[in-house]
Amino acid sequence: MITAHAVVYQSHGDPKDVLFTQKYQIDDENLKENQVLVKTLASPINPSDINQIQGVYPSKPDFTDKFDSSKKLAPTGNEGLFQVLKIGSNVENFKVGDWVIPKSVNSGTWQTHQLGTANDFIKLPNPKQSEEKGKTGLSLNQGATISVNPPTAYLMLTHYVKFNKNDYFIQNGGNSAVGKYASQFGKLLGINSISVIRDRPNLQETIDKLENLGATHVITEDQNESKEFGSTIKNWKGTGKIKLALNCVGGKSSTGIARKLDPNGLMLTYGGMSMKPVTIPTSLHIFKNFTSTGFWVTELLKNNPELKIKTLNQIVEYYENEQLKDSPSNEVKFDESQDLASLYIKGIEDSKNGKQLIVY
Ligand SMILES: NC(=O)c1ccc[n+]([C@@H]2O[C@H](COP(=O)([O-])OP(=O)(O)OC[C@H]3O[C@@H](n4cnc5c(N)ncnc54)[C@H](OP(=O)(O)O)[C@@H]3O)[C@@H](O)[C@H]2O)c1
Repeated sequence: MITAHAVVYQSHGDPKDVLFTQKYQIDDENLKENQVLVKTLASPINPSDINQIQGVYPSKPDFTDKFDSSKKLAPTGNEGLFQVLKIGSNVENFKVGDWVIPKSVNSGTWQTHQLGTANDFIKLPNPKQSEEKGKTGLSLNQGATISVNPPTAYLMLTHYVKFNKNDYFIQNGGNSAVGKYASQFGKLLGINSISVIRDRPNLQETIDKLENLGATHVITEDQNESKEFGSTIKNWKGTGKIKLALNCVGGKSSTGIARKLDPNGLMLTYGGMSMKPVTIPTSLHIFKNFTSTGFWVTELLKNNPELKIKTLNQIVEYYENEQLKDSPSNEVKFDESQDLASLYIKGIEDSKNGKQLIVY
């Protein structure tokens, strides 16, 4: 028997009030023929995980009785990296030691182990397997954070608009994790970019970092709002067109990037960091045939599992070829003497200082 630790909640609310650790037994000696037992290597804390616990996120896990409790409990965490510990007699697509990630959201990645079936996981190359191909192995952070932010950036750039040479996309939240992946994919795919960031004391340092990652141009929110700055952008783009705007901020920032689109442009809204509504001038719709729609990676990939595998394979290839840099996380180590829920609650508090990754 294995004693697993899981971070769970019985009702929605503020994570510090509702999260607790539930220990439960997994019978690892009697796996069913199609079962796969995995141990967790690392799982991040994403904004959507927190919103799920609060009960304000549209996709939610079920409350279940699988955690050896008299009450139904819901698991936490959606992204994570696992290593296969044991497989049932009929499992062919995995072997012990493989690295895997969950196929679907809501399975609960903030726990030490998971018992699932062969259909619940997607295989990633473990470092030894990558090295055998002469490639660089994925880090724990790359594996554990591969299924949300990198596919979001990659799919927004590849799934909607056909770019020609010299064309551009523009994005706000240019310094966010998604924004940094988008700048890198833009460079890898030959698409120019303009990234809008908030002003800050070390502005030039941040601009240099983002340009080093692959952003073609980085501008501030003031420049995004300024009419006069429009001529600079016109000079930059030359014969190219700004065809796509990626919006994770809303408010004035979304108006600014929408205005910079050429006729027939598309804006994808994937986040609302300013908590302000998206405001679009009527004239853009009428005279520029502007389109605005939402993007949600969970929904897109739930309905298109093949696209998920194809996208993950491409991202793995970029990582193995060292063409893509992951967005760094603050790694916090768990050991069995600690209370797992307390670690995640502290991690949620620390999330305002950057992405937190719990490493097991
Ligand atoms: N729809 C989807 O499928 C999907 C998928 C992944 C992520 N998301 C969403 O995308 C957003 C970014 O996620 P992430 O993990 O990349 O975030 P992150 O790395 O934590 O970065 C958040 C960014 O938001 C900026 N920001 C915060 N408040 C702001 C404000 N009031 N005005 C302007 N900018 C502000 C921050 O700017 P500074 O650098 O200046 O601090 C930072 O760059 C989140 O809303 C997340 O939920 C959506």
